[in-house]
Amino acid sequence: MAKTFTPAPWPRKLRSQEWFGGTGKDAIYHRGWMRNQGFPPDLFDGRPVIAVMNTFSELTPCNAHMGPLVEKVKNGVYEAGGFPVEVPAFSTSESGFRPTAMMFRNLAAMSVEEQLRGLPIDGAVLMVGCDKTTPSLLMAAASTDVPSIVVTGGPMLNGWFHGERVGSGTHLWRFSEEVRAGHMTIDEFLEAEGAMSRSAGSCNTMGTASSMASMTEALGMALSGNAAIPAVDSRRRMMAQMTGRRIVQMVKDDLKPSDIMTKEAFENAIRTNAAVGGSTNAVIHLLALAGRLGVDLTLDDWDRCGRDVPTIVNLMPSGNYLMEEFFYAGGLPVVLKRLGEDGLLHRDAITVSGRSVWDEVKEVRNWNEDVILPRDRALTSSGGIAVLKGNLAPKGSVLKPSAATPELMVHRGRAVVFESIDDYKARIGDEALDIDETCVMVLKNCGPKGYPGMAEVGNMGLPPKVLRKGITDMVRISDARMSGTAYGTVVLHCAPEAAVGGPLAIVRDGDMIELDVPNRRLHLDVPEAEIARRLAAWEPSHDRPASGYAWLHHEHVQQADTGADLDFLNGSRGNPVGRESH
Ligand code: FES
Repeated sequence: MAKTFTPAPWPRKLRSQEWFGGTGKDAIYHRGWMRNQGFPPDLFDGRPVIAVMNTFSELTPCNAHMGPLVEKVKNGVYEAGGFPVEVPAFSTSESGFRPTAMMFRNLAAMSVEEQLRGLPIDGAVLMVGCDKTTPSLLMAAASTDVPSIVVTGGPMLNGWFHGERVGSGTHLWRFSEEVRAGHMTIDEFLEAEGAMSRSAGSCNTMGTASSMASMTEALGMALSGNAAIPAVDSRRRMMAQMTGRRIVQMVKDDLKPSDIMTKEAFENAIRTNAAVGGSTNAVIHLLALAGRLGVDLTLDDWDRCGRDVPTIVNLMPSGNYLMEEFFYAGGLPVVLKRLGEDGLLHRDAITVSGRSVWDEVKEVRNWNEDVILPRDRALTSSGGIAVLKGNLAPKGSVLKPSAATPELMVHRGRAVVFESIDDYKARIGDEALDIDETCVMVLKNCGPKGYPGMAEVGNMGLPPKVLRKGITDMVRISDARMSGTAYGTVVLHCAPEAAVGGPLAIVRDGDMIELDVPNRRLHLDVPEAEIARRLAAWEPSHDRPASGYAWLHHEHVQQADTGADLDFLNGSRGNPVGRESH
């Protein structure tokens, strides 16, 4: 039973009045500087001040179109009697940030948390889209517990190339493999580049951005229907305006992230991720988010909740279609309704609308059963992220069944080990490499500390000599992540990671490895005494950053099994109004 919510009495004094309220010197100081922007004095009269947290950046292309959406949000806030202020937020570009955007998710969360706490803000609209922008701002909202609502930038329109749909990321990996196998020319690859991203928006596959948009909606942190609306559809702008209207009432009601993101809401999100064939990255982000809220969520919850959920959304990388068709079919509300009908949804979990998730979705219809499949045509009957444990990953690892090859789900093979991603890149194309399709590719030192930042390199491309045989999948194991747009029988997030001496660190070429997904087992078939001997002799090999954020991250990042947050950011710190006065 989800907890019930009782709106706070209104009117009452809001936190922004600690800055703007009254006739004293401090109030005049705070209002006076703000009025250099031409704001009329009545905007400071105690109405909700709404921060529109904008992750726009021209170097975050998936979020570069936020400007008009921000204006719509502001219109909505004004209409509802609030005072909107646009605030730039740290923008984590998935396609551009090095060494990897994941290293900066926590920095973005930390910076936005301090903005929400240190500025005269009563509520926030989180304008996000590209992968890490969504969890980072949600984590900030969770840590401050300021009333918050998400509106995503929306996915790109379908890409098309030579008459076929082109999925963001998914086809990049596919075309790259075809080039390496000699089935596609470089000129064709370059031509395809122009077809991949044909409109503003985030990745159009059920990659991490779309998965996190879906998680946000399933958690109840966005208005119903938000996740799938294409970035350039006029209804995306309408959604922004409606979101602006809604946050004002949320502030008046004091409807906070902790009221919405309960354990039940997280379980709804986990099941939703299984139903949509969502990204493995959602595991890391939801664990970190739950950690900020003090919600007891574990890797085992992912396995438990997702196991019986069929994948019914036929989107790449698991299926055939893209977010545009998902929207036309009815989008996430149809999926939530299906989960509710099948007893897989906490129906009474409250959402940002103030209504239950079931009330939001119970009347919707599925308009395309090729896109949102009927139960008897599910892509896989057990679509949840599989959590694998064993002597190779004592604290767990994950695999996405809907993106894997069924024949490889139980597999025993000889390890071919790459000590780092550079080692992999240097040797994978070598025709003399002793590898065939029965082998298990092992990649080390790509976890939270080792890379650093836990890059999306776990879906290592196959060796050319295997690709030339027409083989498209092999078992791969690492402590890395993988893009939500990628596919394959890929075991990820091995914890503890190799760089801190996890068992992955002592795997050697020729060791036999057993993968048994039905029994959730990942086993290094080496005698225990030999494993102990190797672990005792292990020494760290990665470079430790000497200073800067890289040092902070290295010293404090936690392992993947708890969400790779920084240890000192766990938990909520609330939103006290601070101390400065003049
Ligand atoms: Fe930004 Fe995929 S790279 S959403």
